[in-house]
Amino acid sequence: MKERQRQYLHAMGIQPWEPRYPPASTERAAATDVTPEAPAPQAAAEDKPSSEPSPPVAAVPAPDPAARESPPADTDIPQEYADWAMMVPEDSGNELDFELEPPRPEDRSARIGRMDWGALEAEVKDCNACELHRTRTQAVFGVGQRQAAWMIIGEAPGADEDRLGEPFVGRAGKLLDAMLLALGLRREQIYITNVLKSRPPKNRDPKPEEMQACWPYLQRQIELVGPKILLSVGRIATQTLLRSDLNIGRLRGRVHRFGAAAIPLVATYHPAYLLRSPLQKRKAWEDLQLAYHTFVAAPRRGGDIDS
Ligand code: URA
Repeated sequence: MKERQRQYLHAMGIQPWEPRYPPASTERAAATDVTPEAPAPQAAAEDKPSSEPSPPVAAVPAPDPAARESPPADTDIPQEYADWAMMVPEDSGNELDFELEPPRPEDRSARIGRMDWGALEAEVKDCNACELHRTRTQAVFGVGQRQAAWMIIGEAPGADEDRLGEPFVGRAGKLLDAMLLALGLRREQIYITNVLKSRPPKNRDPKPEEMQACWPYLQRQIELVGPKILLSVGRIATQTLLRSDLNIGRLRGRVHRFGAAAIPLVATYHPAYLLRSPLQKRKAWEDLQLAYHTFVAAPRRGGDIDS
């Protein structure tokens, strides 16, 4: 018996059967084989009324004088175990001689949830978890300070972002930059990303399965950044983060909490919407001020209070 087979059996708590003598000739071995034709004693017992005593469990055949040179029957090892031991597969060269179950969907989120920045970015760049990978130029991961106190979350890359590989670089992005500068925040000081990492064709709304496929990435980015405040821009990002179907007009203007860490979240209008409806800029400015005051009042990461 090969060493590897012995290890398999040992790991299962089974003492392998080993011949104590060199193998006898085939003829003699045949003469000493235990014939498995007799009905199992237990099955016979089940046919009888239960009051009758059961027969002895195993009838050991009387030794055959002609087989004296053959190994004695090894009564320590039940026959079915000895048979099973002989069925251990030949070494196929593989570590495992059986198929592993394919990973279940929830395992993907758990795996992503343990990634560091490098692994996460590489995973997003190569992601093909939804159909958008077929039409995008490239995945758009996120930019900025990876320990930022402010994290901005938009909807999905548009044409410019898809081309350049960076979120909020088109006209809407320029307006967002201006809004943040009005608060004294430069782009490099904050972390910016989107709910979706790939551009939907013709900027259509994201589909539920696309949001679902991308969600673990955003969740992990938020965990890794550990921001003091989240600013969600637009209906889609806000509804997704808050798991709400209220419209943006109802969700903006107050402080929500996100996730187990209860990170303060303020929602505002999407800058692309503000470009079309400039009169709403006043409300967006109010939202940014609310976010700023919330940020100043929030405990510093690590538990200290800002002065
Ligand atoms: N709109 C978004 O929501 N995100 C971008 O990155 C660009 C436009």
